[in-house]
Amino acid sequence: MEKLERNLKIPYGRQSISEEDISSVVQILRSDYLTQGPIGDIFAKEISRKLDCNYAIPTNSATSALQIAYLALDLGKGDILWSSPNTFVATTNAALHCGAEVDFVDINPYTYNISIRKLKDKLVIAEKQNKLPKIISCVHFAGQSCDMEEIYSLSLIYKFKIVEDASHAFGAIYNGYRVGSCKFSDITIFSLHPVKIITSGEGGIATTNNKNIAQKMKNLCSHGIEKTNLKINNSHENEIWNYQQISLGFNFRLTDIQSALGLSQLQKLDYFVEKRNSIAEIYDSQLSNLSFQLPKVNKHNKSSFHLYAIRIPSQNKRKSQKYFYDSLLKANILVNLHYIPVYRQPYYENLGFKKGYCPEAELYFKEVLSLPIFPALKENDQQYIIDKLKKLDAN
Ligand SMILES: Cc1ncc(COP(=O)(O)O)c(C=O)c1O
Repeated sequence: MEKLERNLKIPYGRQSISEEDISSVVQILRSDYLTQGPIGDIFAKEISRKLDCNYAIPTNSATSALQIAYLALDLGKGDILWSSPNTFVATTNAALHCGAEVDFVDINPYTYNISIRKLKDKLVIAEKQNKLPKIISCVHFAGQSCDMEEIYSLSLIYKFKIVEDASHAFGAIYNGYRVGSCKFSDITIFSLHPVKIITSGEGGIATTNNKNIAQKMKNLCSHGIEKTNLKINNSHENEIWNYQQISLGFNFRLTDIQSALGLSQLQKLDYFVEKRNSIAEIYDSQLSNLSFQLPKVNKHNKSSFHLYAIRIPSQNKRKSQKYFYDSLLKANILVNLHYIPVYRQPYYENLGFKKGYCPEAELYFKEVLSLPIFPALKENDQQYIIDKLKKLDAN
């Protein structure tokens, strides 16, 4: 076996947990409520304050948040949801779980988000075929918001609902608005998985400004059960054991243990985003003369840089994506590939999707590498990564 050049592995992403985070969790462990205590509501309020939205619903994952978001917008059999192929499978899986059909719009080759031009073209055709989507799920890839004003204005013409999959984009800003403020969407969802911007272990958030949608999502998170203002046959309505199931819900609740960690992490959101941006700036300046395409953040955006994705032009056969991937792995730099276009997964191919459906997303996937980026990435580790890339590019 070849000798590894370095003992310590550098992951592409990881959590930053402080002593304060640990003591907030311990405090809950010593308290009366491990779940459904007061801290979940405090966490929700703090999120809505921070993101400038009316309602925030914590969930046990972004996958669950997507599920309740689509259900709250009444997505079901006979409906269609469109999204970007450059995402994690959860974005569209949740729509399939609702019984809906899914379809994909190709990406912009620079932002790797949904292409507005291709979206416009596809909407014109879909209208003629009477196959317009009920929901468009906009994925803010790597932490950069899609062009939401454009998508919002299209939604007024074509009457679709908008969900923002902002799993990567906690703390990001679009046109002066916090992603999650839902200025141009019905619902925004976030992931609190450890590699994301802030974490609660596993966890997610759904935000909205619509009271009815918020109530539906909250209800779906907790078995579809309501406990207040009940009237079952006008009897026992004030009894403490009384409850009423009004929808077919789930147990998607975030525990108080997780909420305490999330709440503590939330205090450091701006610091984490700044740190990620300064790591990105160092990559930008030190890699700018090499053969890679570096991430492009539009003027109206502040990215939260969940990922720093570079492209290795595929016409360069000698130094392919695979060459860089293998060489970096050998040097203990754990780069990753985000994402295999969702419809290229065997499950989706069995639904009828074919290779070549979204050519830009497929080409991108052959070229992309996600470099390590996380707040605790040490300066000398980043320099090691940069030096390695320079050497590999020059060889
Ligand atoms: C774009 C996107 N959507 C949804 C998810 C699902 O998030 P979770 O793991 O919190 O369910 C992920 C997770 O990586 C993601 O990247």
